[in-house]
Amino acid sequence: MRAVRRPRWILETVLTDSSKTSPRDPRDPAVRVVLLPKDTNQHGTIFGGIIMSYIDIAGGVQASRIAGGPVVTVAMKEVVFKQPVMVGEVVSFYAETVRVGRTSVTVHVDVEVDRSGRLIPVTAADIVFVAVDGNGRPRPIATGGG
Ligand SMILES: CC(C)(COP(=O)(O)OP(=O)(O)OC[C@H]1O[C@@H](n2cnc3c(N)ncnc32)[C@H](O)[C@@H]1OP(=O)(O)O)[C@@H](O)C(=O)NCCC(=O)NCCS
Repeated sequence: MRAVRRPRWILETVLTDSSKTSPRDPRDPAVRVVLLPKDTNQHGTIFGGIIMSYIDIAGGVQASRIAGGPVVTVAMKEVVFKQPVMVGEVVSFYAETVRVGRTSVTVHVDVEVDRSGRLIPVTAADIVFVAVDGNGRPRPIATGGG
């Protein structure tokens, strides 16, 4: 039986396991990803909207941990791209909680690219997530403080 050949880039669509932290970087990213030709803009660099979607995913991972359940994105604050991202580079998204409100969690996400062994800041953003119940309405977050 003939093997089905797939384009190489499909086989390379791999979200790397965030537990496989680089020896150069002891931090634990919420998301680490290698971006592909399908994610490029007309200039051949990675499309900014792709990076923003991973910022949202990384922040959501952190926010749902804090909220103890589902969250939705209500606001993403200013996103400034300082460096382009190239196809095949390893991009890491580090998420840190900056504020827990009654129903909302604000998470700061730093985005860095590993460029020839150096970690280069690409962008950063603060995202506000809201904990929601089964009807999609805001749900108070248990703070654990009693
Ligand atoms: C998020 C959503 C449930 C909030 O509902 P709401 O009735 O506006 O809720 P509230 O006014 O009670 O605000 C809830 C929390 O969000 C915060 N919030 C609301 N709008 C905000 C904004 N623009 N910026 C920052 N925080 C905001 C409030 O301060 C509040 O936080 P707190 O409880 O910690 O004080 C509702 O707006 C929604 O469903 N939005 C769509 C979410 C979505 O689908 N996101 C994916 C993008 S397509």
